[in-house]
Amino acid sequence: MGIRIRSIAHYVPDRILTNHDLEQMVDTSDEWIRTRTGIRERHLAAPDQATSDLATEAARRALERANLSADELDLIVIATATPDHFFPSTACLVQRNLGTRGQACFDMEAACPGFVYALQVARGTMMAMDYRYSLVVGAETLSRVTDWTDRNTCVLFGDGAGAVILERSSDTEDAFLSAFLGGDGSLADLLVQPGCGSRNPASPEVLERKDQFLKMKGRDVFKHAVLGMQESALIALEKAGLRADDLDWVVPHQANIRIIEATRERLGIPKEKVYVNIDRYGNTSAASIPIALSEMSSRGLLQKGHRVLLVAFGAGFTWGATVLRWTVS
Ligand code: COA
Repeated sequence: MGIRIRSIAHYVPDRILTNHDLEQMVDTSDEWIRTRTGIRERHLAAPDQATSDLATEAARRALERANLSADELDLIVIATATPDHFFPSTACLVQRNLGTRGQACFDMEAACPGFVYALQVARGTMMAMDYRYSLVVGAETLSRVTDWTDRNTCVLFGDGAGAVILERSSDTEDAFLSAFLGGDGSLADLLVQPGCGSRNPASPEVLERKDQFLKMKGRDVFKHAVLGMQESALIALEKAGLRADDLDWVVPHQANIRIIEATRERLGIPKEKVYVNIDRYGNTSAASIPIALSEMSSRGLLQKGHRVLLVAFGAGFTWGATVLRWTVS
């Protein structure tokens, strides 16, 4: 009995915001953004699009590629830090959009590693509940919690969604060779959306302080990100009984090219084995890894049997990694 990835797809909104567009909005430059982050442009949701809309489009594509109808799903999990509402869950809205009912639905909030967490949570739920098919989506509209007057943060983030269908069956070898998840809440204040939750509910004062938007201590986040990514990757590799050389691909969370590079160097992995698309999407949080995997799959870069390390880090702080045997042809 094993669980495999049956299909993968992604969706990003059409609207593109380039670094040159940002130069008109805040005191920044294309050169500063590119050299400090590796980002050239990012996609932004249209005014009438919310996280569930991006997630639904990615889900439809993944279902089509799996040749499945939404009614065949047993479970819908959406990894997101930017849900449409606190309740109902974005998963329930995606279920409604897909025109189906009855499945177990919930959101998974673990910030940027949300998709890596959600894969394991879905896997455990499928085993506990005897489920056959699950939809797992990483989806974000970070543009809605970004202060577009704050140059320290607004250059970094983008919107998008990536979806996988997981299948559990008796004649399948498990695609998951290992996983490791971790967190450290003592670092919670380094990256936080302070307002509009139960701590600081929406009020004129909250809006005055712009506390509905994310706040970040960039340098501290950078330092912990490199450590968290490295530790997660090493533990996941060890648990899989593999060395870095045994990997065909590393797909890191796309937060910053310098974090990716520092992690790559510490792990001793050659550049050509690390997939990078941050230049075109920015940091899409929980969506970044499934978008990257979907792109790689469409470009024919992932072959059946490839060993792929996913590794991510984000607010919380949370971190995690998983080693997969790629199963989508
Ligand atoms: N354009 C131009 N200048 C900018 C700028 C921008 N968009 N943003 C910040 N600056 C300025 C700062 O104000 C500062 O100026 P000062 O020295 O006059 O005060 C200077 O650039 C250096 O700022 P600093 O924050 O030290 O830069 P940095 O090299 O640490 O790079 C980040 C900033 C945000 C790119 C970097 O810290 C980072 O990537 N951190 C991790 C962020 C992240 O990945 N978050 C998500 C985790 S999932």
